[in-house]
Amino acid sequence: MISVLFFGDIVGAKGRSRIKGDLPLLLEHYHFDFVLANAENSAHGKGITPKIVDELLATGLDALSLGNHSYSKSEVMWLDAKQPVAFPKNLIGQFQDRHTVTITKNNVTLALMSVMGNVFMENTDSTWVESLQKMTQVNADIKICDFHAETTSEKYIVLHTFHDACSAILGTHTHVQTNDAHIYQGCAYITDVGMCGPFPSILGRDVDEVLRRYIKKEKTHYTVSEEEAMLNFVLINFDDQFHPMHIKSYSVLPHENILEVVSGCDIINMLRR
Ligand SMILES: [Fe+2]
Ligand SMILES: [Fe+2]
Repeated sequence: MISVLFFGDIVGAKGRSRIKGDLPLLLEHYHFDFVLANAENSAHGKGITPKIVDELLATGLDALSLGNHSYSKSEVMWLDAKQPVAFPKNLIGQFQDRHTVTITKNNVTLALMSVMGNVFMENTDSTWVESLQKMTQVNADIKICDFHAETTSEKYIVLHTFHDACSAILGTHTHVQTNDAHIYQGCAYITDVGMCGPFPSILGRDVDEVLRRYIKKEKTHYTVSEEEAMLNFVLINFDDQFHPMHIKSYSVLPHENILEVVSGCDIINMLRR
């Protein structure tokens, strides 16, 4: 069996520090073959820097994917090409060719692919259909697509177009976990994994600031909330032929203990060390 853990959008310092605290703890108790995360909001809510990439990889993450905020921090231009970070193939920017990260462990090769939806998204230069037709040609045993998009319908359209070509299609970007993790014709799927970020908040942003902007029309900065972070992630177990057997979504609130939340679940208990 091969197990893959995927954490949704890591938001700001609070999101990073929860990952830093909880992921090593989880890895002490359970064995996962690959640990992935979307980190497009990890640098103060927008973008990522080379330093944060190093910091996140040191927690036990094997690879990171990004989204519409990929290029929000100028330091990202210094990111070493060898770092396992996937940029959306169809988002205009200097690293569009770094859209797929492949990692091999114990003779299993996993590809993490990043692509963006086209509905309500800016700066894309091609459709995800064109992008995924090329990306899914990658030579890998397990192909995970991080589909970064706004609408639930577009995410389901991807599933019904590319279920044959992907081992898993995991939605990111909305920051709110959906309750529809399932396997469709050999492809593990969830509309949105949800975020690893401050809660309560408005998608990770300070509630008061967002309200002042929307209700009182004040000009605010969408500051990242100072609340402690929740974690949202999925676990996918594959059989030895690399077909997904289970997908399960988890949500851990700020006051909850991650080990207590996951311990009641048979799927994760199979991976106990
Ligand atoms: Fe995000
Ligand atoms: Fe996003």
